[in-house]
Amino acid sequence: MKLFTHIKQLILAEKNPSGLRRGKALGEINAIQDAWMLTDDDLIKDFGLMNTLPDYITKASISNYQEVDCSDKLIMPCFADSHTHLVFDAPREQEFVDKINGLSYDQIAERGGGILQSADKLNQASEQDLYNKAITRIREIMLTGTGAVEIKSGYGLCVEGELKMLRVIQQLKQNIAIPIRSTFLGAHAIPAIYKHNKEGYLNLILNEMLPNIAAEGLADFMDVFCETNYFTPSETEILLEAGYKYGLKPKIHVNQFTSIGGIDSAVKHNALSVDHLEVMRKEDFFQLANSDVIATLLPGCSLFLNIPFAPARQMIENNIGIALASDFNPGSAPSGNMQLVVALACMRMKMLPEEAIVAASINGACAMQLENTTGTITPGKKANFIISRPVSSLAFLPYAFGSNHVEQLFINGVAQL
Ligand code: NIG
Ligand code: FE
Repeated sequence: MKLFTHIKQLILAEKNPSGLRRGKALGEINAIQDAWMLTDDDLIKDFGLMNTLPDYITKASISNYQEVDCSDKLIMPCFADSHTHLVFDAPREQEFVDKINGLSYDQIAERGGGILQSADKLNQASEQDLYNKAITRIREIMLTGTGAVEIKSGYGLCVEGELKMLRVIQQLKQNIAIPIRSTFLGAHAIPAIYKHNKEGYLNLILNEMLPNIAAEGLADFMDVFCETNYFTPSETEILLEAGYKYGLKPKIHVNQFTSIGGIDSAVKHNALSVDHLEVMRKEDFFQLANSDVIATLLPGCSLFLNIPFAPARQMIENNIGIALASDFNPGSAPSGNMQLVVALACMRMKMLPEEAIVAASINGACAMQLENTTGTITPGKKANFIISRPVSSLAFLPYAFGSNHVEQLFINGVAQL
């Protein structure tokens, strides 16, 4: 058993946690000042105020516990990054330079860059090589506090390529300590050989990819890039319905560049989350406000592509449940640093530090259906949490952006760093 003592603030310390936080509740961090926390093996066992350490702890022989002094440090749930594409073969920094020189995301895609370029590269790479690169990225995001992550396919765009990506994610699930969820994103773009035969590609997804993925149990969720020049709302609906037949709940890319009715489709199909939402119409707010669909916002993508930031404040006012995620991918957000995501949410989307932390932890866990095991400091949940470096307050984290404030990451009660 490990006893963490003199914790400056124990964040999201909740004996009976609720699930998704929205509206006013998004800003409630339920912090205990000067706290202790006990973990037993892989689980959180108990917590309280330092000046009320219970008898069962004070009377026990000190050798029963391994004490960790957390003076001046915060303990909080790890970041739950519910949207990444971190299995890819190669970065695309040439596009970064192209963008500096004035090309848009669309123009880059038209010139054969973008998602299709990542697909070409991935299809030439070996499963082992992709695995090695992905594991390096996961170790890197753990350094900045990520303790649960969702990873999408979508750079295969052919049966073998999509299966290869999902098998890599399967391997990662087996070998990495942090919980991982996998999402099938065959409908990420239309591959070059189907350029004039979109229906043919849709049929490939429906008749070849999905049945094979389901047979191997390779995906937890289903994603579609519902966007002008990619997949329409009605195509999205066909795909989501097919995913449901294999038990895959939808988490979809929508309203990144244009609002074309994809939110309506997602709400109708009871999606777990709708992700991006940089461009919102009035009716989009209304539909989300009256649903349990989580709005997953990706400020790293807005920063990198220089597109609008999602209107988080308006969403909070409309009682929409918000999660924050990194979108870590080689084209639109080449960073999986959730501390940066939280800082951007504060600086550019006017989220309060408390709101951003809740959106990046428990609400992110909800967007992966992991809220029963992680996302809050709760007895019985996994002992998955961050110990910060000595800091003056919670707000210092996004305020002093660009520094790594994570000193240690515990997963299943074991220090990882
Ligand atoms: O979430 N928008 C679609 N997909 C990714 C970008 C993928 C890429 O450019 O490689 C995103 O932004
Ligand atoms: Fe994405």
